[in-house]
Amino acid sequence: MAKTSFSCSACGASFSKWSGRCESCGEWNTISEDQGLSSGPAKKSLGVKRGRTIQLTDLSAQETPPPRTCCGVGELDRVLGGGLVPASAILVGGDPGIGKSTLLLQAAARFAHAGLKTVYVSGEEASAQVRMRAQRLGLADAPVQLAAETNLRDILTTLEAEKPQLAIIDSIQTMWADHVDSAPGSVSQVRAAAHELTTFAKRNGVSIIMVGHVTKEGQIAGPRVVEHMVDTVLYFEGERGHQFRILRAVKNRFGPADEIGVFEMTGGGLAEVVNPSALFLSERGEPSPGSVVFAGIEGTRPVLVEMQALIAPSPHSQPRRAVVGWDSSRLAMILAVLEARCGIPFAGLDVYLNVAGGMKISEPAADLAVAAALLSAREDVALPADTAVFGEISLSGALRPAPQTENRLKEAQKLGFTAAIAPGGSKTVSVTGLNLRKSSDLAGFVGEFFGAG
Ligand code: TYD
Ligand code: MG
Repeated sequence: MAKTSFSCSACGASFSKWSGRCESCGEWNTISEDQGLSSGPAKKSLGVKRGRTIQLTDLSAQETPPPRTCCGVGELDRVLGGGLVPASAILVGGDPGIGKSTLLLQAAARFAHAGLKTVYVSGEEASAQVRMRAQRLGLADAPVQLAAETNLRDILTTLEAEKPQLAIIDSIQTMWADHVDSAPGSVSQVRAAAHELTTFAKRNGVSIIMVGHVTKEGQIAGPRVVEHMVDTVLYFEGERGHQFRILRAVKNRFGPADEIGVFEMTGGGLAEVVNPSALFLSERGEPSPGSVVFAGIEGTRPVLVEMQALIAPSPHSQPRRAVVGWDSSRLAMILAVLEARCGIPFAGLDVYLNVAGGMKISEPAADLAVAAALLSAREDVALPADTAVFGEISLSGALRPAPQTENRLKEAQKLGFTAAIAPGGSKTVSVTGLNLRKSSDLAGFVGEFFGAG
């Protein structure tokens, strides 16, 4: 008897029985029964030739890998780890409507101009609609082949015949493989399609970029289901109300993860933002209590962002802790350290923390900037103008140095900052025009800058 199994459409975890909530990722109503592959005759091995091994040393002598191709959009090339690696499989995830199709159509045009034979397969729009979009983006003359198709076998046959060097599949959720019984978008279909495309990429030396919609409901499998199959996972993020979009590498077999590329959505498509710090700080007004600039590092690049905090007496018995753009458990930790090590209580106070501009920060080095924003809001004291802050806070209240001190300071100086506050153990680097002040622990920092603790 065939064994039934169930999987989660949000994270792809498999289970032997159904349940209302996924034990792996905690999402509700995302578990559904897998429709198995249709069973064919038992497969025979194709012989020892297919699975043969090769000496690692032989490989390097025999074939030097073909070089990467840069498309000329610096923000995209950097996130890819320095250009597109031949025969790689890339997943670009993001919310519907965030601009994935726009980004990839522009990338397709650039790569085609850079000399790669490029095919853009749309499962969502007709070729005429893709062409209309290309016209709007001023890309009508780009040598890109278009196809509107959802059947995986047809797509692979076309790719085999056309022999492109880059194929873009928009989106993986619309593709269906005919050897899988379930509907397009289900976990089994998405997995099967991604597996076939990835295998095809490796066998035929074609780079494949797949689009994956991040889905809120459990009906359609999200991109996390295929993250482990591909070489590179990029997420396209942004707030609807903001013009800028961030392309973030969360996994990259051929380059650094955590690298970001910043774009701005304009009437004529996505434009690259070469100096994101200037953009993130552009809306900053006069120095005000609760606002502190964090000198951060995203991947290999320094980025300055503004941390904003608001503290208000709470009308609730359980005060609110609301965070946008940062980790809420990290906020709880900072509040606890401030209370335990510096004697500054936040009980009975609502705490709101926001990373301005829709950025998401995951670096521990943001701790000190967050603590400074919280204290500044609580004491109603603004930090001196043009001061950037960074450093990690440990549970003991000590401040730990953050990597790349020099890059952070240089970026701050470049943007007109005249002072920086860093942990005591940081490397001493002198940057002209920038006054570096160090604190070795949180209590000392509080005493020096907020006259308390
Ligand atoms: P799209 O690339 O279709 O999103 P996705 O493929 O991620 O679902 O982008 C849709 C949004 O982008 C839409 O709200 C309109 C906006 N947009 C612009 O602002 N300028 C443009 O030049 C284009 C093509 C789209
Ligand atoms: Mg789209």
